[in-house]
Amino acid sequence: MKIAVLGTGYVGLVTAAGLAEFGHSVVGADKMADKIERIRRGEIPIYEPGLGALLAANLRRGTLSFSADLAAAVQAADVLFVCVGTPQGDDGSADMAQIEEVSRLIAENLNGYKVVVEKSTVPVKTSVWIKRTISLYKKNEEEFDVASNPEFLREGSAVEDFLHPDRIIIGVESDRARDLMLRIYDRHKDRILVTNIDTAELIKHASNSFLALKISYINLMANLCERTEADVELVAKGMGLDPRIGARFLKAGIGFGGSCFPKDLKALIKIGEDLGVDMSLLKETDRINQARVRLFLDKLKSALWILGDKTIAVLGLAFKPETDDVREAPSIRIVQALLDEGARVRLYDPKAADNMRELFPEDGVRVVYGASPAEAAEGANALLVCTDWAEFLDLDLANVKERMANPIFIDGRNLYDPAAVRALGFEYFSIGRK
Ligand SMILES: NC(=O)c1ccc[n+]([C@@H]2O[C@H](COP(=O)([O-])OP(=O)(O)OC[C@H]3O[C@@H](n4cnc5c(N)ncnc54)[C@H](O)[C@@H]3O)[C@@H](O)[C@H]2O)c1
Repeated sequence: MKIAVLGTGYVGLVTAAGLAEFGHSVVGADKMADKIERIRRGEIPIYEPGLGALLAANLRRGTLSFSADLAAAVQAADVLFVCVGTPQGDDGSADMAQIEEVSRLIAENLNGYKVVVEKSTVPVKTSVWIKRTISLYKKNEEEFDVASNPEFLREGSAVEDFLHPDRIIIGVESDRARDLMLRIYDRHKDRILVTNIDTAELIKHASNSFLALKISYINLMANLCERTEADVELVAKGMGLDPRIGARFLKAGIGFGGSCFPKDLKALIKIGEDLGVDMSLLKETDRINQARVRLFLDKLKSALWILGDKTIAVLGLAFKPETDDVREAPSIRIVQALLDEGARVRLYDPKAADNMRELFPEDGVRVVYGASPAEAAEGANALLVCTDWAEFLDLDLANVKERMANPIFIDGRNLYDPAAVRALGFEYFSIGRK
């Protein structure tokens, strides 16, 4: 199968490499020519475990190539995977400008029957707009179909998720498109669910919003725990033992971030409201999440009183471990609030520091990046943990404490055993437990 993957960001790169690994002939194309140049030189523009090896193996085999010539990529392919961004617009809805741009590009280069696959996360009914746009701008009578194939990969385990998915959702409205899509995913035919397009589009938003809801739910329980003698870690464990609930995504903390959950939740709220559906449940999910950062900073204030002129070390900047992605990371709002209050910040992340530097450039005084957690902790009046990187569990906390001005430790991810940290002489605060 000849496939073009349009947009080579987090999803597009993994999709291109993964489809090549499935045995297809794939070209990844992006409008950012410099990004394509870097990929061709063997540089991987993002940190994603296993991606470098997968790209290299398929580039070597000749099943995968990259090009900035989008028109040629569209013309040469039978199936077009649209992997461009659908960021949050001003009113919370998904900004569909990149999807529209790609639809016009496809229309202008339609030189035979093609299936246009929505891989990006898009609002239900987007296929109608894509079809209309291609029909409006195409220059001939060539036929095409639109299919929805939402992506469920998680940053940090994206390669594994793509190669060994739990499920593959395929939304189609013609037998021809269905047969092509089934051939593409032939090796995973035991886990394919075929639906109509609206259903497939909605499954993605429904899944992400449900996971977001689960996180806000346990964070609500954490608030209750903080006013009682209950321990949210054990509440989550006790709930999770019920297979109807399940243990995953019941981790209390400073809330969810990333390029998907916050925007997909808001997009679904907007979709529902536009359709006249009461979306209060999901609005509350968002409101609880928004409040996490303020509650976290309240803990810091109750330990330090005034933040102005204090030095705060922040460990973990990525929105979750094993990624360099800081989009919508809670750490951004935390660092901004600290700076707004007049504090100085010393930041550390194993992979995301460079992306954070673009938002908070190092000035050597108010914003400093440490080369290690211990360096970030130097002279700090308090230490905050914002991402549960596994490597933080191996920290020499006694050394960290030695370097700090005050041994105040606020763990936003419940990474440590409170008794063990307190035994080292820290004042230790975490989420939903004493
Ligand atoms: N990141 C995730 O974990 C994840 C998971 C599942 C689904 N998604 C969805 O997948 C989509 C892509 O997400 P991402 O994180 O990869 O975004 P991204 O911003 O990392 O990548 C988007 C890419 O599209 C390119 N692009 C934009 N307009 C283009 C055009 N007209 N022609 C060609 N290329 C163009 C950009 O240059 C960029 O490289 C979004 O809809 C997102 O919601 C993301």
